[in-house]
Amino acid sequence: MPFKAPESYELDRPVSPSREPFDAPYRYSSDSEVSEINDFDPLKSSDRPYRDDASQPLRSVFDSDKGARPLAWLDTQRQRGGWQRWLIPSRFMCILVLLFIATFVLLLSAGGIWVYREAVPKDGQSEPWYPSPKGGVVKSWQESYKKAADLVGQMTLVEKVNITTGTGWSMGMCVGNTGPVDRLGFPSLCLQDGPLGMRFVDNATAFPAGITVGATWNKDLMYARGKAHGFEAKKKGIHVLLGPSMGPLGRLPAGGRNWEGFGSDPVLQGIAAAQTIKGIQDSGVIATAKHYVGNEQEHFRQSWEWGTPNAISSNIDDRTLHEIYAWPFADSVRAGVASVMCSYNQVNNSYACQNSKLLNGVLKDEIGFQGFVQSDWLAQRSGVAAALAGLDMSMPGDGLIWQDGKSLWGTEITKAVLNSSVPMDRLDDMVLRIAAAWYQLGQDDQKVWPNATNGGGPNFSSWTDDEYGELHPGSPNSKEKGVVNKFVPVRNTEEGGNHDELSRKVAREGIVLVKNENNVLPIHRKGDSYPSKKSGGKFKIGVFGEDAFANPKGDNACADRGCNEGTLAMGWGSGAVELPYLVKPIDALRKNFDAETIDLTEVSDNHDAKAKKLASEQDLCIVFVNSDAGEGFLSWGGVKGDRNDLYAQKGGDELAQTVAANCGGKDSNGDAADTIVVMHTVGPAILEKWIDLPGVKSVLIAHLPGQESGNALADILFGDVNPSGRLPYTIAKAEKDYGPDSGILYYPNGVVPQQDFKEGLYFDYRYFDKNDVTPRYEFGYGLSYTNFSLSSMFIDSQHLSGGSEPASRPKGIEPPTLDTKVPNPKEALWPEGLRKLKKFVYPYISSVSDIRTGQYPYPKGYDKPHALSPAGGAEGGNPDLYTSALKLQVTLANSGKVAGDSVIQLYVSLPKDFKSPSGKVVDMPVRVLRQFEKVHVDVDERAVVNMDVTRRDLSYWDVERQNWVLPKGTFEVCLGFSSRQLVACDKFDL
Ligand code: BGC
Repeated sequence: MPFKAPESYELDRPVSPSREPFDAPYRYSSDSEVSEINDFDPLKSSDRPYRDDASQPLRSVFDSDKGARPLAWLDTQRQRGGWQRWLIPSRFMCILVLLFIATFVLLLSAGGIWVYREAVPKDGQSEPWYPSPKGGVVKSWQESYKKAADLVGQMTLVEKVNITTGTGWSMGMCVGNTGPVDRLGFPSLCLQDGPLGMRFVDNATAFPAGITVGATWNKDLMYARGKAHGFEAKKKGIHVLLGPSMGPLGRLPAGGRNWEGFGSDPVLQGIAAAQTIKGIQDSGVIATAKHYVGNEQEHFRQSWEWGTPNAISSNIDDRTLHEIYAWPFADSVRAGVASVMCSYNQVNNSYACQNSKLLNGVLKDEIGFQGFVQSDWLAQRSGVAAALAGLDMSMPGDGLIWQDGKSLWGTEITKAVLNSSVPMDRLDDMVLRIAAAWYQLGQDDQKVWPNATNGGGPNFSSWTDDEYGELHPGSPNSKEKGVVNKFVPVRNTEEGGNHDELSRKVAREGIVLVKNENNVLPIHRKGDSYPSKKSGGKFKIGVFGEDAFANPKGDNACADRGCNEGTLAMGWGSGAVELPYLVKPIDALRKNFDAETIDLTEVSDNHDAKAKKLASEQDLCIVFVNSDAGEGFLSWGGVKGDRNDLYAQKGGDELAQTVAANCGGKDSNGDAADTIVVMHTVGPAILEKWIDLPGVKSVLIAHLPGQESGNALADILFGDVNPSGRLPYTIAKAEKDYGPDSGILYYPNGVVPQQDFKEGLYFDYRYFDKNDVTPRYEFGYGLSYTNFSLSSMFIDSQHLSGGSEPASRPKGIEPPTLDTKVPNPKEALWPEGLRKLKKFVYPYISSVSDIRTGQYPYPKGYDKPHALSPAGGAEGGNPDLYTSALKLQVTLANSGKVAGDSVIQLYVSLPKDFKSPSGKVVDMPVRVLRQFEKVHVDVDERAVVNMDVTRRDLSYWDVERQNWVLPKGTFEVCLGFSSRQLVACDKFDL
């Protein structure tokens, strides 16, 4: 593995600079600075107040008595005493790193140099790609760029810089706030998490999480959820929503944040992301496709968080990058997404937020992205290098450390432009991209988005739930106060519709029925075989497991939902929100079961010693188990973001075993009564400890349902709605079945931890199919209460010729140009009389003598621009990639006893023997998902379903030609109900 810090790579910063990079003074800070910073470091001390009941008074992290309360975000790991202190992840990791370095030095001195050499990853570096492509080259953005050019053309240098840089963590009401240009009516933009609702926002919907949305396989619902989400954001004054998430993509089943995205397949992710983006943006809010790219695990995702000085490097080969990880981002761009967030990690040993190949090359040139790239929060690791590599907005404006006021941009980028380290036209492009995105979404409309002086801007505070609060709570010398929370209701409005209902719909369609022996489900509200077989009295149903019940401390008791207590509605981290309410499964069961005929026994403790006995007294048992995970800045119960294993947590598997083995005692045949297992989970779980027990008749994977949990579950349990969820990932029989490269890297393997994506295209079902591994339940699998069949498949291939690349890249339109004259540094000086808030990020310089001019060693490409990609030319890439290559028609029939929805899935197998120009046979996965449709069919009815397959769907990324190539040979296309239940297949030649 390369043990050089990434700074040493040519790409990240120019070699032998003739003077110090601007960020040099910030790379190391004195101890006193650090301790001062620690007081404000949100990773260490966030103490945002939580409300479980509106009557409770709330306190802010910045309230004067803050010392009185324990630190919340990292409480489980940061408050241990004695030897346990060394288990705190950062310290533990430091020890490990030190041990590792010592071992490494010993190894080297023992003649192990070759180990070092051999271990350098083959694709261990990223190609330089300069200069950054300009925005405003496609027709659909032309008007917005024109308006943006008019606006930006009037801006001074510091005004431009103000727009590109956040004002610092907690300096405004949102998790990200840019500087405004009041003079020209350009507001401070409010950026707020996140993918399933709005973090730190009151009276808003806690929608089902991304993984639940993916499990619906319902494009209309994906759109509707996005639209509702955008509507709520707009009403709260949020300009930019920090979602949807499509990275992590689910390469590692235990990945802590997989649940924020839509499932372990690029096409499912891409379609769900595009639908969500269209929904959000149709409501007038800028959506953010995140995290670009390769952020597949939480351990070591960012510098220092895990004790390592550098973030992990995801080493991804070119073909895999295109066919897997960048794919959903291309779909997002094609859907018009106006913002992309670059991720914390490095890719091929260059930080994702300063990786010119990824940002300038793949995203902006090839995929044709016209909006702005914002950094993940402190994912930016350099000033000039990041600007040149294509970053457009620094978030939250803080530099290398939280809240020290030393931004890598702000003042620093003003200096960089003045001394010509960052060309003026690069800064202009950043600002144009941001302003154009604002126009593109109609946010200049004062009727909808009044400016702050007319009552606009965010009407909530991320930092307090009090009505009245500080306006810049992160600044130690700001005492400015005002009304910060206006408590605007947005969930159920005449204009926006009923979002509680919508959430319930999404949550129930995201429930996957994986087992239903003897049609035990659906159950009756009066009991299945009332009166009780055992006692002749009421039918006895036992509900077991903490996951059915409330968190006794309250729905929002744990900061950012960073604990697994009570029923699991969402994972944890910045992607979690405050629950406005939570319908617990037990409440829905109590409400639905008829108390006249049913006797309900409730066991809420997973370790209750009476569980066995109580189970034996029931006629039917329902067991709830769960598995939780989240973002790496929080840890709970030893789960540091990524899961430690894929089993149910808190003894859930043992509880399921006990109940299933003992439910109803044994009858005369020695059989137990029926048990139904419900699992709330962030992703794939190993069910083997109980799935085959004879008592386990039905199993529902209910994912992460959000606020409507119990109601959604009841809809399915009682058969009011026919289950139609399908697995958005594979459930294996054993964790090792996911393959040798599917594990989290839990311990650093270098100063820059290296993670080689050696499996390439083969993870989840692609791995199982290639290696002929039998899963427990395959990708796309799910049962219904009715029977569906497919017939009469017709294929109409559109006569594209095999072996071909898409048509030549269209030329595009000219981007706007502005005057690139570098202004007099005096213009950037601190304005007289402006009060300086401590730690606030400003664009001004203190003295003209700060500006030293000279030759700046630009990276390769500024004198010889990189060639444009033949795969580019429009949003989403070359438009010809989206030409229809195949049209399919099939008939779906419902021959069962109830109406229902089925998901028709389309898989394609590309020719097996096609050769690249150099004569190598191109390896192709057994089959890949390319389309799906969810269709409703009434009993004894049929529906004709049409599907379209594009040129891109039938192409592979040819690394030699650096283009998408439609191979020549025999293709197979199959329609079916899962990745292994392929019902109708046909072959055709191209
Ligand atoms: C997360 C992002 C999030 C940001 C702002 C980061 O830690 O990775 O997904 O949008 O924080 O809260």
